[in-house]
Amino acid sequence: MTDLATLEAEIVSAVQASADLAGLDAVRVTVLGKSGSISALLKGLGSMGPDERREQGPLINGLRDRVQAALTERKTALEAAALDAQLAAERLDLTLPAPPRRRGSVHPTMQVMDEMTAIFAEMGFAVADGPDIEDDFHNFTALNFPPKHPARETHDTFFFSPNEAGERMLLRTHTSPVQIRTMVSQTPPIRIIAPGRTYRKDSDQTHTPMFHQVEGLVIDRNIHMGHLKWTLETFVGRFFETSDVVTRFRPHHFPFTEPSAELDVQCDRTGGELKVGQGSSWLEVLGCGMVHPNVIKNCGLDPDEWQGFAFGMGVDRLAMLKYGVPDLRDMFASDVRWLAHYGFSPFAAPSAAGGLS
Ligand code: DAH
Repeated sequence: MTDLATLEAEIVSAVQASADLAGLDAVRVTVLGKSGSISALLKGLGSMGPDERREQGPLINGLRDRVQAALTERKTALEAAALDAQLAAERLDLTLPAPPRRRGSVHPTMQVMDEMTAIFAEMGFAVADGPDIEDDFHNFTALNFPPKHPARETHDTFFFSPNEAGERMLLRTHTSPVQIRTMVSQTPPIRIIAPGRTYRKDSDQTHTPMFHQVEGLVIDRNIHMGHLKWTLETFVGRFFETSDVVTRFRPHHFPFTEPSAELDVQCDRTGGELKVGQGSSWLEVLGCGMVHPNVIKNCGLDPDEWQGFAFGMGVDRLAMLKYGVPDLRDMFASDVRWLAHYGFSPFAAPSAAGGLS
């Protein structure tokens, strides 16, 4: 009896004293392992007479159960302590700056949009925007596209299912509807640019179903083609960062401008490289014109009092040309290697004072 109590006290203090799981397991083996002290006592029961066994059996089994319980309890405590230690060692301070393993970069389209915004902001243009999902009125009718006019078809429009009234919403095919929204909601004089996403059913090396445009609109009194020409030539020179850019206004047709033109800049394409401002080729940069009197009227303004000019250009295409991207579709493939190569540092935001590229 006394022996068992002594043994139990020894075992329990060894259990309490074990500092880690390995030490605790070593104690378990010396007690309950094949040749452990309690295992030996249990084995000894077999060689006892019935009376002695009846007396010793419960004592030894009780000892085994209490030791087992002490082992389990200590094990649980040691495991919890081990987990606490691991969590403390692996503690992550989320307020620390991320390690510079893969840096994010600014997409060339966004960089070029920022460049355009910086140039026009310096000339006193404000930034306006409108919804990507438009109605027929803002995308076509108010812009002087006659009903059933073939120009509507050339836009390869994505239409939504018609509503109960039979009207179909659409994904805007150009940023020109922002002209309408601005003229309707603001009183002239107006000087805005509208950068944004546009959509057409088209996909090849130079077309993607989603692309970006920057629209421009000036409405004031006594505005004429001279204002348009100066504004766009100044823009092109600053955008391509050359003072000797040669431009050409080529007559064109848009329903919302009259007269309409496309602006080309002289360039050199020899050796597969594009140089703006010299050479024997022409590069088409944008569409423009004097805002059609019907468009001004459709916005509730009097065309005898207010005139203006407008322009629109493809941002992705100009980004490709400026930064030498060969395939437009790569611009939207989200390939991180492409982005690492063509992307811009987020700290290199274009500004009139800080530089544009
Ligand atoms: N909306 C035309 C397009 O997507 C671009 C354009 C041309 C916009 C002439 C204009 C403009 O504002 O005056 O093809």
